[in-house]
Amino acid sequence: MFVRDLWYFGCLSSELKPGQHLHRELLGQPVLFGRDHNGKAYALKDICPHRGILLSGGEAQQHNGETHVECPYHGWRFRTDGSCAAIPSLTAEQAKAMDLTKIRTRAFPVHEDQGLIWIYYAREEDADKPPAVEPPKLDIPEGEKPRLVVRDVFNCHVDHAVIGLMDPAHIPYIHRQWWWRSAKSVHEKEKKFGPVERGFTMLPHTPSKNSYLYRLLGEPQTEIRFQLPGLRTEYVQAGGKHFTGFTAVTPTNENSTAITIVVYWNHPLIHAIPNFLLKTGISIFVGQDRDAVNAQQVGLAYDPKLMLIHDADVQAKWYFALKRAWDKHRDTGEAFRNPVKPATLRWRS
Ligand code: FES
Ligand SMILES: [Fe+2]
Repeated sequence: MFVRDLWYFGCLSSELKPGQHLHRELLGQPVLFGRDHNGKAYALKDICPHRGILLSGGEAQQHNGETHVECPYHGWRFRTDGSCAAIPSLTAEQAKAMDLTKIRTRAFPVHEDQGLIWIYYAREEDADKPPAVEPPKLDIPEGEKPRLVVRDVFNCHVDHAVIGLMDPAHIPYIHRQWWWRSAKSVHEKEKKFGPVERGFTMLPHTPSKNSYLYRLLGEPQTEIRFQLPGLRTEYVQAGGKHFTGFTAVTPTNENSTAITIVVYWNHPLIHAIPNFLLKTGISIFVGQDRDAVNAQQVGLAYDPKLMLIHDADVQAKWYFALKRAWDKHRDTGEAFRNPVKPATLRWRS
């Protein structure tokens, strides 16, 4: 149902303080994201192996320099690698006779960079193997931190969220607003695409002159990259400065998808725009996409047959082809072959 053996966006660095943790649902499973007392991020399956309560309901404690999460029910304690460190109800003799480290909750590989915390989600049977791929890295200057974050929740399966966000043909219908596009601005577009690692990119181009915001920036160049599992990054470059919008489309479960938009920039013109204004603009945009896919669910409940047409839906076709190719690679061990070939796509929007 969800692609595995890939890094998923988990949460923001700023959400995790040392000695604290939070609960998230990811790919239909409860996950505890935490930061130990030394500042290192970790992630555990958020289920106590004793009797199944969420571990995140308990507190993180320090014992002999280690961070332990204490289960709120009977006080069993777990290290950040998932192994059990203590069962308070055991007598000294019982404790000696038991190998506590055999009791564990799953621990996930975690990577923190650029203000983002990534979690490697392997298949259950490969949970102990090291990650098969490197964690994602945004192509922005070293040391940059997120300047703006917008979140939303789409009540749909991740596939509809992904293809809904990448689909160019909905723009004049769903995102019709005076400060972005006018209804009269629809025209033929031609964009060049090429493969990137586990994904594809709309190669650098000068965006439509009819986008008011883009016109403000001078002569910008835009590139939009998509990579599995659902990572979309829009890079805008103008005069050696950048404005980068990263969107993580993360399945919460089968019927709910978390959208996190993290924006980075060093472009002076963007500094001049009040943060709340930019945030409002992005929230309006993503809210329009959310309302569209949520409305779509009413029709999808009847399980209709769907169509993907040329060329406006080719990116959606690539997304499904990439998923199939990745699953095949993981199932068979054959090398991963990116199904995307360089192409020029044309549509009206
Ligand atoms: S349920 Fe966690 S210690 Fe009992
Ligand atoms: Fe959209």
